[in-house]
Amino acid sequence: MYTLRKLSAADRSNFRELRQTALTVNPDDFMVTAEEELAIPRLSIEAALEQPGTRNFFLGAFADDSARLIGIAGLLTSSLQKVRHAGRLTSLFVHPEYRRRGIARMLVERLLANAAEEGLRAVRLEVVADNRAAIALYETLGFVPYGREPAAYRLDKREWDLLLMTRDCPS
Ligand SMILES: CC(C)(COP(=O)(O)OP(=O)(O)OC[C@H]1O[C@@H](n2cnc3c(N)ncnc32)[C@H](O)[C@@H]1OP(=O)(O)O)[C@@H](O)C(=O)NCCC(=O)NCCS
Repeated sequence: MYTLRKLSAADRSNFRELRQTALTVNPDDFMVTAEEELAIPRLSIEAALEQPGTRNFFLGAFADDSARLIGIAGLLTSSLQKVRHAGRLTSLFVHPEYRRRGIARMLVERLLANAAEEGLRAVRLEVVADNRAAIALYETLGFVPYGREPAAYRLDKREWDLLLMTRDCPS
């Protein structure tokens, strides 16, 4: 019903379009604003599209009856020796028309499987502390909280805490 695959440079415009949807529909859940991202010609995360690898990549979910990109999730891992054991899950988003169909779960499960195959010891993430949908998803997939960053985001006098979560990868 849905297909998952790693995204490449050929997916760039669809990726940027879905990111704009994410930042417009769910502005509270991301660090960057839609206007800011639109003004950036090449996002740093696009490196993972241009050269998708086993430790740095974006997964995309597609509806089988169309080439439409409907969900994304990224795994980013530093190559520095002391921190190369832990990857970071980033930019998870599912288009509102396709939610509650298990697509985010599929994306994150695939990403965790890839991380384990690659020998990573853990996958970490940051999530806005009042994002109950995402936290519920992460908890069902074995992520546990290990800290909280107060007022990590601040805009127009509103503030958001971030919950830091981690999940061990089976060795
Ligand atoms: C969070 C998000 C990615 C979930 O995507 P999804 O494809 O709808 O999630 P799934 O269908 O795979 O849900 C899997 C499980 O997560 C939990 N979950 C998902 N959405 C939920 C909601 N709105 N409320 C409560 N639990 C929810 C449930 O446990 C669900 O299992 P169930 O449907 O069997 O009850 C999606 O809502 C989204 O894109 N939100 C905006 C962006 C965002 O918050 N990204 C995360 C940034 S850290």
